[in-house]
Amino acid sequence: MNMHATAERIASANSTGAPYVAGNFAPLKSEVTAFDLEVIGRIPEELNGRFLRIGPNPIDELDRVQLVRHHWFAGSGMAHGLRLRGGKAEWFRSRFVLDRDAARVLSRKPIPGPGEGARDGNVNTSLMNVGGKLCAVVEAGSLPVELDDELASVRRTDFNGTLEAGFTGHPKFDPLIGEHHALAYEPFQPVRYITVDADGRATTKARIDLPHIPLIHDMAFTQSFIVVPDFPVTFQPELSHTDFPWLWDEKRASRIGLLPRKGDAAAIQWFEAPRCFAFHFANAYDDGDLTIVDLMRHHRMFHTDQNGPNEGAPVLVRWTLHRPTGRLSETVIDDRGVEFARINGRYGGQAYRFAYTAYWGDDVAFGPSMKHDLQRSTTEVHDYGPGQMTSEPVFVRKPGATAEDEGWILSYVYDPRRDLSDVVILDAQDFAGEPVATIRLPVRVPFGFHGGWAPDKVTVVE
Ligand SMILES: [Fe+2]
Repeated sequence: MNMHATAERIASANSTGAPYVAGNFAPLKSEVTAFDLEVIGRIPEELNGRFLRIGPNPIDELDRVQLVRHHWFAGSGMAHGLRLRGGKAEWFRSRFVLDRDAARVLSRKPIPGPGEGARDGNVNTSLMNVGGKLCAVVEAGSLPVELDDELASVRRTDFNGTLEAGFTGHPKFDPLIGEHHALAYEPFQPVRYITVDADGRATTKARIDLPHIPLIHDMAFTQSFIVVPDFPVTFQPELSHTDFPWLWDEKRASRIGLLPRKGDAAAIQWFEAPRCFAFHFANAYDDGDLTIVDLMRHHRMFHTDQNGPNEGAPVLVRWTLHRPTGRLSETVIDDRGVEFARINGRYGGQAYRFAYTAYWGDDVAFGPSMKHDLQRSTTEVHDYGPGQMTSEPVFVRKPGATAEDEGWILSYVYDPRRDLSDVVILDAQDFAGEPVATIRLPVRVPFGFHGGWAPDKVTVVE
């Protein structure tokens, strides 16, 4: 079918001409395996591991009714991985996360594990390491899926029975204790603060009862607090025109909470915040009486467009929370549209200087990557070339690094002229300079969400 022509008449379409299935939003039709990829430049020999990414990749052909109801965040996940070793790009693989839909369409045996019938939905948001196992994760109720080294789905997992309900698409690794922090939400359950230890055991540290059901996509942590967002996007299936039940609530205020890390939910300090929505936090840390929270602020979400996050360009802001008075003040760090912030993971929850983001303009338009110097209030831009579009830029430390920005920036970059993607490696200290290496992929990697670098000898997806 001609998806462009069909979708043009859909009012909520974004700039691609179709609601999140055209251009590089379109899913791949099949899995991919390729070896010995072409490299321009030199891949650093110290980069031994896999550069991973996951995003939604609906496996069913969508008819017109389904297109109108389709949301960018929906559909089976597809995991992509580029294997680097000794200066070579050994392989690239794209694999469906074998949920119910994918098993049916691909005529494969469904994966084993808990959750069947209740927590067995699509898993398409991020990847993490759980006790030495690579897992695809998603928010709002479905259980993670364990993947093998070549990205094949192995089983559903509830972390050996330690996960009492659903998980999150955004666990945050705490380098000082070697554990992940997570906030999980889903309809008709309290918001849960969970930690996942180095052995892959989840512990529910707090249950936060709220009178409404907010969408909590990401979280941040400091050395003393868990940052709990409570923005006015809530569960409102009765008002949704799509299969995605989370919508802007014009009547609801916006606030952000500091939950003591021990998990005393009664002791949360709430701060009134600007009316807005944020998917992602760059980082947070404590500074005396202040708690600093950096995030990408969308002025609202799922209001005019219910099919995707298309309410204008988000901006990188710093919220300074003054704990003695309960006041919040905002500073705009960069007023260009940016999203998908990443940092040097060693600085998670601590004072830091650099954040790396991807351009995000009106109508969900992607473009260059950016390096924000939060000390000097400057931004460097890396333009990958005419029309080229990156999404999440991932920072990988150089071995023995001492400076915060001593590392590489890896990202999947889409070239619309060739309709293919590259993995581009930048030197983070020469951000605007020529790439260190560009690896040509045999396919395009659809715009998707998150991933990271999985080094061979360390058990952390960063
Ligand atoms: Fe995200």
